[in-house]
Order: sequence, then C-alpha cells, then structure tokens
Amino acid sequence: MKKILTFLFVSTLIACGSSNEKKEDGFKFNRTKKEETKTVSEKTATPIDLNNKGIGPVKDLVFDSAIDDALVANGAKAFKQKCTACHKPVGKLIGPAMKGIYERRHPAWVMNILLNPTEMLKEDPIAKALLAEYNNILMINQNLSQEEARAIAEYLRSL
Ligand code: HEC
Repeated sequence: MKKILTFLFVSTLIACGSSNEKKEDGFKFNRTKKEETKTVSEKTATPIDLNNKGIGPVKDLVFDSAIDDALVANGAKAFKQKCTACHKPVGKLIGPAMKGIYERRHPAWVMNILLNPTEMLKEDPIAKALLAEYNNILMINQNLSQEEARAIAEYLRSL
C-alpha cells in the first residue's frame, strides 16, 4: 500500500511538473505576442523613420539650432486657420497629434506632406501606413506656399 501511494505521489509530481512546463511555455508565448501587439499599438502602426525625406519639392531641410519666434508666430496663425479642423498639438483628432513630430519624421518629410500630400499618400511608405492607420482619411492639399509650409514647420518645433 505504501509503495502504491509513493508511486501515485511521484507520478502526480511528474504530471504536475510537465503540465507546469507546458503552461509556462504557453504563457511565455502569449506574453511575447502580447508585448508585440502592445508595442505596435502604443507606438502606432506607422513606422518611425527619420531618414525618409518624403517625395515632393523639398529635398532637404536642416533647422537652425534656435527656434525662429517670428516664423513660429506666422506658422501658428496658418496652423489655426488650415489645420485645426483635423489636428491638435497634443492628442489625436482626425489626424495625428503634432507634438513630437520631429521625433518621428524628418523635417523635409513634414514639408513634403504639407506641400504634396496627395502624391505622398500614394507613394511614400510612411504616408501610406498613416493613411491606413487613419482610416483612409486623406490629408488634403491646402495649396500652401513653401513659405507658409516652412512657417508651420517651425511652429511645430515649438510645441
Ligand atoms: C481633412 C483633415 C486634415 C487637414 C485639414 C490637415 N490634415 Fe494633416 N493629416 C490628416 C490625416 C488624416 C493624416 C494621416 C495621414 C492620412 O490619413 O492622410 C495627416 C497627417 C499629417 C502629418 C503627418 C503626421 C505624422 O504623425 O507623421 C502632418 C505633419 C500633418 N498632417 C500636418 C498637417 C498640417 C500642418 C495641416 C495644415 C496645413 C494639416 N495637416 C491639415 C488630416 C488632415
């Protein structure tokens, strides 16, 4: 009887051991999957790419180290008139939040999405991913002049 009990005890231990292992494996697997999903949804599905300068009239843009306040003031005015229907500085509206844009995008890319949104949304990999993320809502071409776009780009630095 003692022998049988010991046998039962040991085999239960073995059974528990192996099922624990399985559970742990499953848990690990789920956890990795969850973390991946979380990263994607928190950082948004659209990749960050600071080297992509976009497609359009602006081939490059390097900001001065100091922010130009006069340009910011002009840009703020234009932003209020032409962008606030869809964008807020902080938090999503119809389009993405503007704060921190240069942590995600090259300044030239920003200029090109302002000046050439239609082609960007068709051809540029980041813009295409954004379009999918934002339910195919098109960022419309506002026919901004380069000066206006540049002022807005400076304003976005100040957020
Ligand atoms: C009709 C709504 C609408 C208007 C008006 C609009 N946008 Fe957008 N914008 C969007 C949407 C939506 C996106 C995301 C891409 C897409 O789905 O077209 C976007 C994307 C952007 C992006 C890229 C954001 C990122 O995270 O990479 C920038 C920068 C931007 N807009 C700036 C502006 C500025 C500046 C103006 C004003 C001149 C403006 N937008 C006007 C809807 C709009």
